[in-house]
This record gives sequence, structure tokens and C-alpha cells, in this order.
Amino acid sequence: MYKTLLTETAEGICIITINRPDKMNALNRDVLDDLDSAMEEVYNNPEIKSAIITGAGAKAFVAGADIAEFVGLNVEEAKKLAKKGQDLFDKIENCPKPVIAAVNGFALGGGCELALSCHFIYASENAKFGQPEVNLGLIPGYGGTQRLTQSIGRNRSMELLMSGNMFTAKEAEQWGMVNKVLPAEELIPKTKEILFLILLKAPIAVSNVIGCVNNFDHGQQGYDFEIKKFGECFETEDMKEGTSAFLEKRKANFKGK
Ligand code: COA
Repeated sequence: MYKTLLTETAEGICIITINRPDKMNALNRDVLDDLDSAMEEVYNNPEIKSAIITGAGAKAFVAGADIAEFVGLNVEEAKKLAKKGQDLFDKIENCPKPVIAAVNGFALGGGCELALSCHFIYASENAKFGQPEVNLGLIPGYGGTQRLTQSIGRNRSMELLMSGNMFTAKEAEQWGMVNKVLPAEELIPKTKEILFLILLKAPIAVSNVIGCVNNFDHGQQGYDFEIKKFGECFETEDMKEGTSAFLEKRKANFKGK
């Protein structure tokens, strides 16, 4: 049914698996389109009461937006791409049914942003998070500057966004970003277990919890500013150097231009 996703619904839970393991489940346009359709299904299919988002294979949840698709984008096209990603992640965040991220490996860039847009995160012990966009001469464009800051606070967020450093599932748990760290084989069963408990509660009350929590200090301005700044990166030489260096498997040489 989908080009880039596997979906399976049982007992009210739809498991959405991003399925590009050879590319570390990177979010290309097909994945964004498929995820959008899968979320429409979660919103509208009465048999689906909740969703789990995870990645195929043992290595990656999602290793970011597909860097190959960044090549040659101009400022306006890049802003359009960021808006497309932000609209999708807003749809996940505002879903009236619980959507949980089961992070089973690398959650970098757009993968970290995807996990943060879910209502909460469970992670496997080998999961690694990070916003490495600065390594490419870029910044997050799918809401990362806003949701990471909201999740772990300003100072840690500044350090991680400026350094591009990865952090472990355990660190993410200590900082309040991940709710539970589990052995890999327990990740999906334990995520289902908490959903089964939630699904026993009144669905309208659960939806209202999601709506109210999302309404906590949720200014749109920061997200719009992020789109503008993400787009502007695409007219820099450093962005072209950073993305080419990644694709050519060499170290980037940044010039500040
Ligand atoms: N976009 C496009 N392709 C990606 C990708 C991404 N974000 N992340 C990984 N891939 C591809 C690699 O290019 C490689 O493709 P190839 O086999 O055709 O050469 C394949 O996935 C496997 O990745 P590789 O780098 O060989 O695996 P690794 O185990 O050595 O490293 C990572 C894993 C996740 C650390 C590394 O792939 C990485 O740093 N990815 C980019 C992370 C990033 O910057 N994300 C933010 C994007 S905005």
C-alpha cells in the first residue's frame, strides 16, 4: 500500500514502520508523503485508536532528512520542503489519538524531530539521538529548534544544536526527553503495553489531554522563523560544501560563506 512504509493494525494499535533500511530510513519526499497518508488513516479510521512510529532494521529509527534531496535546492524550494516537513510533524503532534515514537536506533536530524513530534518517546538501549545539521552547514527545519528546546530546555538544546553532538538514549531519559529506555527486544512490546493501558481510558479525555498539553506555551512564531532560516542556509557555500562532503564521504571544509 505504501512505497516506503510498512503498516500493521491490531488491537487498535497501528504500527507504522519506516522502511528504507539501506538508507538508514532517511526521510525522502516519498516517506513524507507516505507518512502523511498513514497519519490521515490514523486520524480517520475508527479501527485505529493509536499509533507507534518506528524504523525498519536494527540500526536506525530515521537518520534524518534525505541529504541527497537537498542538493540543488534554492531558498524558496528549501523553505517549501521545511514547511512540508513541519506540516506533517504538526499533524503527528496534533493527532487526537496517541502517537508514540519507538526509537530503535539512530534518530538524527529529521529523525530526532520526528520522535519529538510524537506524544512521547520510548527508546531502545542502542538508540542515539542528535541534530547534526550544523555539520552540513544547515539547521533543523522540521521543528527541531523549537521542540528540542521545549523538551530538554534552552541550554542543553543550544549546546546540542551548535555542536551537532549525538546523545544516548540514557542521556535523553535523564533530560526528560525519553520516557523509557528498554532492551531492543522489549521496545515494541512495552510501547504496546502502555498504549493498551491508555486505550482503556476515555478516548475524548485522552484527546483533550493531547490538545491541552500541546497548547502549553505553543507560539507559532519560532516555527515560521525556523523555516525562514533553514531556507537561507541553502544560499550559502557552506551548505553546498557540507552536503557534497557527506555524499562524497569526505570531511567538510567550511568557509563561513
Ligand atoms: N540522507 C541520505 N542518505 C543517508 C542518510 C541521510 N540522512 N543517512 C544515511 N544515509 C545513507 C548513506 O549515504 C549510506 O548510503 P550508501 O550505502 O548508498 O552509501 C547508507 O545510508 C548507510 O549509511 P552509512 O553512513 O554508510 O552508515 P554508518 O553506519 O557508517 O553511519 C550514520 C550511520 C547514521 C551515523 C550516518 O549515516 C550519518 O551520519 N547520516 C547522516 C545523519 C545526518 O546528518 N542527518 C541529518 C540530515 S539533515
